[in-house]
Amino acid sequence: MVWIYAQTFRMTVNQLLKSPFAKPVLFSLCLLPLAILVGRGLTGDLGANPVETITHETGDWVLRFLLITLAITPIRVWTGNTSVVRFRRMLGLYVFFYACCHFLIWLIADHSLDLHDMIEDIIDRPYITFGFSAFILLIPLAITSNNAMIRKLGKSWKKLHKLVYAILILGILHYLWLTKADYLEPGIYAFIATVLLLQRLPGRKKISKHSRLFSGIAKNQQA
Ligand code: HEM
Repeated sequence: MVWIYAQTFRMTVNQLLKSPFAKPVLFSLCLLPLAILVGRGLTGDLGANPVETITHETGDWVLRFLLITLAITPIRVWTGNTSVVRFRRMLGLYVFFYACCHFLIWLIADHSLDLHDMIEDIIDRPYITFGFSAFILLIPLAITSNNAMIRKLGKSWKKLHKLVYAILILGILHYLWLTKADYLEPGIYAFIATVLLLQRLPGRKKISKHSRLFSGIAKNQQA
């Protein structure tokens, strides 16, 4: 009985993910954190230090979207559901979008677009060095995320996009370094990041075969 419910749930999720509305719905959902921030700004609900609130909120969302994007492959491997892969590019571009907002707030509100001041900050504060490096590494990934660049770069595209692991490590170091107390939230992100990175170690490919076999058996039993 449980198995029938599980299969029905799996098929419903599959149908929803394949629906033509799935992408626009996800696109809108990804804009929700920004919309909430704008709403809070308009109603004067950003606290005593609005710049700090915006920096923290956007920083959190850069990391959350990065982790969600990197979770797509394990979700595909563990569930055998290949439909999730078509959302990866959009989620990756949202990482870049929120990183740009996060970076621009720092550049405009903290440094008033002063290049000298900005460079001094990058050199003086290690957590800014980590965050800035992560942001710089995100740029080539965002630029090469379209179909034409994927075709043009061929095998090098995959190699280039391995930079995402360095970005994740830099992003986690950035957060851990700036935290002065209460390491719970950065600790949770660091734990998830470690799981996602370990999952990509070469030996883990066996899980992929197993889940494909499992989904194959499930499909046969369904037929
Ligand atoms: C992939 C790139 C980045 C990620 C994942 C990231 C992530 C984060 C996170 C999670 C926070 C803490 C939010 C919180 O406390 O709730 C944060 C804060 C912050 N980030 Fe980033 N960040 C990135 C890039 C940058 C860049 C490029 C800069 C500027 C050069 C920057 C400057 C800051 C600042 C100033 C804070 C607030 C620090 C404080 O209040 O003590 N970040 N970031």
